[in-house]
Amino acid sequence: MKILVIGSGGRENAIAAAIKRSKKETEIYCAPGNGGTAEIAVNVPIKEGDTKELLSFALENKIDLTVVGPEIPLSLGIVDEFTAAGLKIFGPDKKASLLESSKKFAKDFLKKYNIKTAEYKSFTDFQTAKNFVKQKNHPIVIKASGLAAGKGVFISESMEESQKILDSIFNGKIFGKSGETVIIEDYIDGFELSYMVAADGTSYKPLITSMDYKKIGDGDAGDNTGGMGAITPNPYVSEAMIEKINKTVIEPALEGLKKENIKYKGILYAGLMIKNDDIYVLEFNVRFGDPETQAILIRLESDIIDLFLSVINENLKEYKLIFEDNKSICLVLSSDGYPKDYKTGYKISFNGLQNLGWAKTAEYAIFHAGTKKIDEKYYTSGGRVLNICAKGRAPEIADIVYDIAKKINFENKYYRKDIGKIYALS
Ligand code: GLY
Repeated sequence: MKILVIGSGGRENAIAAAIKRSKKETEIYCAPGNGGTAEIAVNVPIKEGDTKELLSFALENKIDLTVVGPEIPLSLGIVDEFTAAGLKIFGPDKKASLLESSKKFAKDFLKKYNIKTAEYKSFTDFQTAKNFVKQKNHPIVIKASGLAAGKGVFISESMEESQKILDSIFNGKIFGKSGETVIIEDYIDGFELSYMVAADGTSYKPLITSMDYKKIGDGDAGDNTGGMGAITPNPYVSEAMIEKINKTVIEPALEGLKKENIKYKGILYAGLMIKNDDIYVLEFNVRFGDPETQAILIRLESDIIDLFLSVINENLKEYKLIFEDNKSICLVLSSDGYPKDYKTGYKISFNGLQNLGWAKTAEYAIFHAGTKKIDEKYYTSGGRVLNICAKGRAPEIADIVYDIAKKINFENKYYRKDIGKIYALS
């Protein structure tokens, strides 16, 4: 079976590794992939946003199944294009992808279907937004409505800070078109939960829960990032809470989508804030989370190809989604300076560490994100460079990833020191 994975991050390396673990015979391609996917797949030099080229490649190479990692090709309508050409592709279509590509669409949708979310207003001009923040108690949350690679959300502590942020979005155009509409919403203080389900248009199955560490610094200090680490399961979430999320968020959302004539097929990711047992939706993503997926998929027991196919063929109900009964962790090694400016091109030394990330029994996995393989050597090429994952018992798994983090070397290496620290506290 020929399978194409679109994307170049740690999430796509983890997806490719899970595909490689399948008992089915596979030939894996990754577009554009990274240094890690080069070990288990053929990297194809087509950018994730070049949907036309990707379609030509899939048709010419008779790809049996395409799996889309990131949001950009989804928001551009890659699923509509592949489906129209008679190809099997995993992910929601363009209209469904609005849930992530337009925060305004998502907020209005939540309101319409009575799903709890922070009170908000949307703005399209600087002056009105600036006047609005003058009347607000702080902190407040300011978000670019469009896609911003996880960097478009600000928690502002003061009116002056809010005005600066609005100025940079509206006048400085730091997010380009993605910042033409801005959402300002109330800040909710609680604990965050990444909750993902697979959905096939009629039924859904939840994945295991996870917790993302979004901020760059220890103790959740500093700027928002794409994610600096993750653990599964989310240690704060009970079975009763999961039931409540399904009943008050997932089911009304999937029903609402049907009412909007959207057949939602793929992964629906709800970024949730839980405060005193109240569940607020912070955001929807229309894809697997990164780095949560790396921690989730190393615990997946069932065949991931069957999961993809059962969603595409709309028989998810019959698919048995099984995870190992343990815990997992993912630690992100990044280039110092990320999520702002950082340098790349540094050689990575693994110091003899064997990476068997695709082997089911492997104690740890090293997934690549911003890396390049040149002449059998690996170099940094992005902000988030490597993902070190381990599964088993806590707190031991945290010790494993931190030991590996010390052994791997590259110039400007940076990582948080408190991922999974909660294990030591519990
Ligand atoms: N880790 C958050 C995200 O994937 O959007």
